[in-house]
Amino acid sequence: MPRTEAQPPIDSERRAGKVEPYRTALRRSLKNRMSTSKAELYDQLATQLSGLLAGERDLVANAANFSSLIFHSLPDLNWAGFYFEKDGELVLGPFQGKPACVRIRVGQGVCGAGAAKCETVIVPNVHEFPGHIACDSASNSEIVVPLVKDARLIGVLDLDSPLPARFDHQDARGLENLVRILLSSVSS
Ligand code: SME
Repeated sequence: MPRTEAQPPIDSERRAGKVEPYRTALRRSLKNRMSTSKAELYDQLATQLSGLLAGERDLVANAANFSSLIFHSLPDLNWAGFYFEKDGELVLGPFQGKPACVRIRVGQGVCGAGAAKCETVIVPNVHEFPGHIACDSASNSEIVVPLVKDARLIGVLDLDSPLPARFDHQDARGLENLVRILLSSVSS
């Protein structure tokens, strides 16, 4: 029977030092499987979110349902929600999780950094992030995605996880796409 790269090595291969290529192939195949399922999860969430927000244009209502959907669908989150920009500050919006700090200056903490740069910020270890604001002591990693509408920052989406390094670039792209769906749901 033909053998694929990711099958366990047989004894003669072990002796011939072919174990490492097998390990590499196995690592790659596991990584691909995990990547596919994360991409699929974000695709499913995009479909669900579009349905959930259809027919409603209110930003607060749609942000509230958005945070509930992702909090209950994405694994290993302890906080998911929004801050909206008002007069140079980020003010707490709809969220799921423990009570959080209400006002954050643009430039302060992870949320403020994402808002100031207008870029997604991934923080693998919040304890090493200068100025991190600890709202929930359970948080160990965080991702912040800016909300930019008509070239203007209107707020940020913030997700916290108790797992270190919970968020990667797939999460960034997936969440940015979900934020696009939210923003287009409220545009006139
Ligand atoms: N950790 C954030 C503050 C908001 S909470 O995590 C909900 C920050 O450093 O900006």
